Amino acid sequence: CGIVGYVGPKPVVPVIMEGLRRLEYRGYDSAGIALADGYGDLSVYRAPGKLRNLEALVAGMPLTGSYGLGHTRWATHGRPTEGNAHPHRDCSGSLVVVHNGIVENYLTLKRDLQDKEHIFVTETDTEIIAHLIEQEFLDADDVPGSSAPLPLEEAVRRAVRKLKGAFAIGVLSAHDPGKLVAARNGPPAVIGFGNGEYFLASDIPGILHHTRNIAFLQDGDVAVLTPAGVQFSDFEGNALSRPPQYVSWDAAQAEKEGYPHFMLKEIYEQPRAVRDTIRGRLSMTTGQVSLPDLKLSEEELLKIQRVVIASCGTSWHASLVAKFMIERLARLPVEVDYASEFRYRKPILGKTDLGILVSQSGETADTLAAQAEMIAHAMPTLAVCNVIGSAIPRRALGSISTNAGPEIGVASTKAFTAQLAALFLFSVYLAQIRNTLSSEECYRLLSALGELPNQIDAVLRSAAPVCERLAKEFYGAEDSLFLGRGIHYPIALEGALKLKEISYIHAEGYPAGEMKHGPNALIDETLPVVCVATKDPNDPESVLKYEKTLSNIQEVTARNGRVIAVACENDQEISRLVEHVIFIPSTVEALLPILEVVPLQLFAYYIAVERGCDVDQPRNLAKSVTVE
Ligand code: G6P
Repeated sequence: CGIVGYVGPKPVVPVIMEGLRRLEYRGYDSAGIALADGYGDLSVYRAPGKLRNLEALVAGMPLTGSYGLGHTRWATHGRPTEGNAHPHRDCSGSLVVVHNGIVENYLTLKRDLQDKEHIFVTETDTEIIAHLIEQEFLDADDVPGSSAPLPLEEAVRRAVRKLKGAFAIGVLSAHDPGKLVAARNGPPAVIGFGNGEYFLASDIPGILHHTRNIAFLQDGDVAVLTPAGVQFSDFEGNALSRPPQYVSWDAAQAEKEGYPHFMLKEIYEQPRAVRDTIRGRLSMTTGQVSLPDLKLSEEELLKIQRVVIASCGTSWHASLVAKFMIERLARLPVEVDYASEFRYRKPILGKTDLGILVSQSGETADTLAAQAEMIAHAMPTLAVCNVIGSAIPRRALGSISTNAGPEIGVASTKAFTAQLAALFLFSVYLAQIRNTLSSEECYRLLSALGELPNQIDAVLRSAAPVCERLAKEFYGAEDSLFLGRGIHYPIALEGALKLKEISYIHAEGYPAGEMKHGPNALIDETLPVVCVATKDPNDPESVLKYEKTLSNIQEVTARNGRVIAVACENDQEISRLVEHVIFIPSTVEALLPILEVVPLQLFAYYIAVERGCDVDQPRNLAKSVTVE
C-alpha cells in the first residue's frame, strides 16, 4: 500500500495526491484522503479503483486543510470497495488511520472492542487500529484525577503495543491539531524533512520530489510530525534519534528501492511475501492451519473426491507443484490443466470436484473462462490469487489470498513462491480434515513452513553471487535444458520459463527420467543443463528420487553436457559429479520447490542482464493477459 502524510504551509491536497500518484505502483485497488483544518473539522474522501477515481471525486471541491493523510490500497483483508478504502475512522469520526500491513490478532481485538460497544463498519483489520486508539483515550479519561488530555502519540503508543503482526500506520486526530503520528513494525515508513514542512510516506518516491532529507523509521519506532519538527520515540515513549539521511537516487530508482529492476526487487521480497502469506494462518501452539476465507465447511470439503486446477504460465507451474502436495499429503486425486486448454477437451466434471484457479492477477481471461466452465458444472471454485477483489476471487466461492503485494516485473517471482506457500497451507489443511497425516507429521510440516522465510533469505544471500558468476559464463548459450523429477519437475519448467521469457534463450524443462527417451540427443559440450537434485534426508521417497536424478545427471555428464545442479547443502556426492553446484538449505520435500526456484530466478535474471535485455518488460509479453 502507499501512504503519504503532510504537515506544512502548502495546500495539502495536491501534495498528498501527487505523492499517492507516485506510489500507486504499490497498490491500486482503492484510494482515500483525510484532511483536518486545525479547528476540529475532519473530512475523508475515498474511492474504489485507481487513484484517478479519487482525483475525479475531489476535483472541483474547495478542499482546504492544514494537515492530512492519504492512502492507496492493496487489499489484504476485505474487498476493494469504497467502504474498505483507507483512511478508517473511529466511532467518534474524529480520528483516522491509514495502514500498510496485516494485523494478525484483529479478530480477538475486534471482539474485545465490540464488548466495549465499538461498532465496526468495514471488513478491514485497519479499522480495529482506529478504535483501539480511541479506546485508549476513553480509558485515560476514566482514570481518576487525570486532567490533561492524553496526547495522540501516547494513545497510539499504547494501542500499537497491543497489535500483533505487521504495520506501518499514519494517524491524525481533529482534536490534536497540526499533528501526524506514525508507527512502524514491519512495512517501511519514511519521514521527509522539508523547510518548515514534514512528510510521512510508505516509500521514498512519494516525497522525493519535495525533499531528499529522509529519515527511515525502524521497527518499534513512533514519529510525531508537527509544523515545529519531528520527534521520534520507541513504543514505550523513550526518545530516539533518527537523523535524516540525504537520498541521491532518482525517482525511478527510488520506486525500485535502489534495485536496478523490479524483478530483482521482487526476487528479494520473497521472504516477506511468503511470511505475509502464512501470517495468521498457521498456529504452532495447536499445530493447525486456519483459512478463514476458504468458505467451504469441513463437511463440504469431505465430500470432495477430486481436485481440478486450471491456470496459466507461472501459475500453472505452481499448480503442478500443488498436485504433488495435495496428492501426497491429503491423498486426494488432482488434475491440472492449462486454463487455455481446459474448455476444449470437454472435461468431465461434477459436484464432487473442487475447482482451484491459481492466478497472480485474478484477471487472466483463459483462467476466467476455465472458472466459468467449472461453475457451469456446479463445481465449487476456490481462487488462489494475489489481487484481492479481482475477477477470479469475486466469482469464486472461497479464496486464499497470496499477500505477495503488487508484482510489477512481467516475469512472476514473488507471486509464485507465495502461491506455493498458500497451496501448501491448503494441502495441510485438507490433510488435517481428511485425517491423512499424523499430528507429528503435521507439526513437522508446519514448523518447516515457519522456517522457510529465513531459509529463502539465506538462499538469496548465498546463491546470488554464484548465479551472477554463472551468468557471465553461460549468457552466450543458445539453448538450455532444465531437469527435475517429481515435485521438482515443475520447478525445472519454471526455471526454463524464467530464462526464456527474459533472456530469449531457448530453454526446455523436462522430467529428468525422460531424457533418455529423446532429449539426450541434444546434449553436447555447449549445452547448459540445469538439474534440480535436492532431497529431504528424512524422507525415504525423496532420497530415492534424488538418487534416480543423480543417475540421470551422470547420463548428461557422460555426454559432455555442462551441468549446473541445484542441490542441498552438504551434498558432497554431487560436487564430485558436476561442474557447478548452487546449494540451498534442506527442508521437507513439499517445500523444497520454494527454495529451489530462487536460484533459478536469479540465474535467469543475471543472464538477461548480461545479454542487455529489458528484464521488467520482455518483448511480446504482458503482465496480465485479458484476451483468450
Ligand atoms: C502472463 C504473465 C505470466 C503469468 C501468466 C498468468 O502470461 O506474463 O507471468 O504467469 O500471465 O497470469 P496470472 O495473473 O493468471 O497468474
